Amino acid sequence: MEKKIAIIRGDGIGPEIMTQAIAVLDAVAAKFGHTFTYEDAPMGGNAIDAFGVPLPESSLKTCLACDSTLLSAVGGPKWDAIDPAIRPEKGLLGLRAGMGLYANLRPAELIPQLKDACPLRSEIVDRGINFIVIRELIGGAYFGEHKTWEENGEMAAHDVMAYKEHEIRRIARVGFETAMKRGRKLCSVDKANVLDSSKLWRKVVCEVAAEYPEVELRHMYVDAAAMQLVRDPSQFDVIVTENLFGDILSDEASQIVGSIGMLPSASLGDGACGLYEPIHGSAPDIAGQDLANPIGMILAAAMMLRYGLNMPDEAAAVETAVSRALEDGLRTGDIMEPGMQRVGCAAMGRAIVERI
Ligand code: IPM
Ligand code: MG
Repeated sequence: MEKKIAIIRGDGIGPEIMTQAIAVLDAVAAKFGHTFTYEDAPMGGNAIDAFGVPLPESSLKTCLACDSTLLSAVGGPKWDAIDPAIRPEKGLLGLRAGMGLYANLRPAELIPQLKDACPLRSEIVDRGINFIVIRELIGGAYFGEHKTWEENGEMAAHDVMAYKEHEIRRIARVGFETAMKRGRKLCSVDKANVLDSSKLWRKVVCEVAAEYPEVELRHMYVDAAAMQLVRDPSQFDVIVTENLFGDILSDEASQIVGSIGMLPSASLGDGACGLYEPIHGSAPDIAGQDLANPIGMILAAAMMLRYGLNMPDEAAAVETAVSRALEDGLRTGDIMEPGMQRVGCAAMGRAIVERI
């Protein structure tokens, strides 16, 4: 098959981990007889430097014209003091909205070889940790009105957390559909004891539940969910929640399963082209030193193969190669343990390519 993949190399460690992911994709193409072509779509800090905006119109067009988009990570201290209207993060939010990517899937699965990296007690870990956070991605406080003003001699600000029924319904469906393909347990997280947007969220989720009688649905307040995630993560199969709650809970989930450098995520909409990225940031402190862990990026490429390009065998080949490299004792600095062999970003990428 021939597939066009939009590549967002990003900032910080982005370009070096993307190089490794592309090497892995090339190895997959060679092994399975596909042709992948790559089109660069600059976004983030590098795009601000080159074009004066974090998301040039041409980049959004490139992403929409490709079969799938692969993104590393954007942002860094260099652009922290910049006009808030053109911060690198704006590029990411613009891309999500521009591509209509309303569902963000963030799996949190404990990799057996990295069990010791989990900060929870072993009796909790032994119950198993394998759940997925489904975060609504283009609504809520991120996309409601942001406003700062002066009132009676002091500053005031607000960010409106708004949801419409159809926005809740479509993400709820993703939650139920995902649960149907997994353990058929869905936990909807909200703050319906306080927020109107959450009361509507809960009502709509209950309506959609009628279409999925096989799925066991629970509701949980976000504060309780944050607590239950560390008390007993084995109780969760699929979590569905609004944008800001999902941002926070998915970072918590990533820490629970050990290295944040290992986890991929997918952002999907109703269109064909999804966006696949590791959940970690651009780690500017270690950029350009061959220290980054490319596994989250490489597993994002695997997720793209599975969900975006409909190539499950190819995706499995990548995931197996990653497991083998870990089994063979290779570790980047962030997941280093006594007795293992410490390698850099490029060597880890090479090791995975050799195992495809
Ligand atoms: C994420 C990130 C982004 C978000 C930032 C960089 C805007 O934290 O993807 O979770 O808040 O969505
Ligand atoms: Mg986040």
